[in-house]
Amino acid sequence: MQTNNTPKKPINETNAANATNPAKSGHHRAIKSFVRHHGRLTSGQQHALATYWPDFGIDYTGERLDIAAWGFSRAVLEIGFGNGESLVEMAAAAPDTLFIGVEVHKPGVGRALMLAHEKGLKNLRVLEHDAVAFIEHMLPDHCLDRVQIYFPDPWHKKRHHKRRLIQPDFCNKLQRVLKTGGVLHIATDWLPYAEHCLTVLAEMDNFANQSAEDFAKPDYRPQTKFERRGLKLGHEVRDLLFVVTN
Ligand SMILES: C[S@@+](CC[C@H](N)C(=O)[O-])C[C@H]1O[C@@H](n2cnc3c(N)ncnc32)[C@H](O)[C@@H]1O
Repeated sequence: MQTNNTPKKPINETNAANATNPAKSGHHRAIKSFVRHHGRLTSGQQHALATYWPDFGIDYTGERLDIAAWGFSRAVLEIGFGNGESLVEMAAAAPDTLFIGVEVHKPGVGRALMLAHEKGLKNLRVLEHDAVAFIEHMLPDHCLDRVQIYFPDPWHKKRHHKRRLIQPDFCNKLQRVLKTGGVLHIATDWLPYAEHCLTVLAEMDNFANQSAEDFAKPDYRPQTKFERRGLKLGHEVRDLLFVVTN
């Protein structure tokens, strides 16, 4: 608090502070679904990022990608692939489908590149960026057969619920990039998050719930690292599938 003894800030300093304060400058920083942890890279991950990025990496440019030019009839986007193990396994099992993985955690991206190189994959591309911006700015309309979001950060506390990835605005963005008949596949081990997803998507006009009655995992989805962690803690897993109808 400023007292009479505290000298007032010079006017230009006050303006500079306002310019970087989004609330005061009127520029709102979008709420992010992640917190960037600058985890240490192993030498293997460093090597993979330096060596295999040209084979698998997509640089974030903000320009629309011409995905059709890559020559795959099917395309799948995975948001938040973690260490990439399950994504690489899925890509290896479906060589005719293009898999695009987006993750903000650099060590995970490095690990995915190592695994993709080991398997000699030709159908995987990865980005190290916020998936929300990638979808909005770089993906063309109706280019995806499936969007998969496996064990998204549940943001347990009520005051953090706004950070959850699954929100009406975001689902509208997904609907634009999914083909008609395309699938949004979410898996979670946090039941309140499963309920949150069911509520949000029930309100959307263009998504039909096609989850199994017991929310069982489809055969094509491998177990993920976070899923194993959740199961060890005794959590139940729900697989939620929503089909784009328009
Ligand atoms: C709980 S982890 C699950 C990782 C993996 N799917 C698994 O099941 O093992 C969630 C991941 O989503 C990533 N993530 C969250 N929001 C993201 C966003 N907007 N764009 C890209 N990645 C995101 C986080 O960095 C984190 O690695």
